[in-house]
Amino acid sequence: MIETARLLLRPWRDMDLEAFWAMACDRAVMRYMPPLSRARCEKLVERMTVMQAEHGHCLWALERKTDGRFIGFCGIIPPVSPTFEYEIGWRLASDAWGQGYAREAAEASLDWAWRRLITPAIVAITTRENARSWGLMERLGMTRCPDEDFKHPGIAKNDPLRPHVLYRIHRPR
Ligand SMILES: CC(C)(COP(=O)(O)OP(=O)(O)OC[C@H]1O[C@@H](n2cnc3c(N)ncnc32)[C@H](O)[C@@H]1OP(=O)(O)O)[C@@H](O)C(=O)NCCC(=O)NCCS
Repeated sequence: MIETARLLLRPWRDMDLEAFWAMACDRAVMRYMPPLSRARCEKLVERMTVMQAEHGHCLWALERKTDGRFIGFCGIIPPVSPTFEYEIGWRLASDAWGQGYAREAAEASLDWAWRRLITPAIVAITTRENARSWGLMERLGMTRCPDEDFKHPGIAKNDPLRPHVLYRIHRPR
């Protein structure tokens, strides 16, 4: 469990599923992502639980300390397709945007990663149009790597969400 000024980053609990499903039904949250069925939400929660058990980290559930509410996820996933590098990711409920929660959680995740993982760098990816997400990458001090733009293999060929950008941050000296 990681604690910041306003948040807990923690493993997922079964009770997070309803709030996570509500996020999957929010068009603002899902604007730049393929739709997510209830079954796929359940799978994602399961996958995060397994990842936490196997690797000691995942995209952690974010719990707001003032009211105990689940407001989304943020954390680090191990090297897997399509980047094959440690990757930071985030998704917050839309009524929790614009308050610096994502940045707070992401900074804590990076700080955790530099202390606990053996890696020279961490990447983040998002669809080209998702300015809120790459804006956060820039606020975190990540650098865009235009030569590494790619078409996401998990997204259909004619889907406008397919072109992705990649940002990277190196371990601080
Ligand atoms: C991407 C996402 C996590 C960014 O969230 P966010 O709330 O915009 O990001 P931050 O936490 O950095 O907050 C920044 C905003 O909070 C404001 N803010 C308010 N209080 C703040 C504080 N104490 N500290 C920092 N910023 C604060 C900033 O001024 C900024 O405002 P602005 O959006 O009007 O410019 C969010 O939009 C999201 O979940 N999107 C949907 C899912 C998604 O696309 N995920 C990425 C897929 S790759």
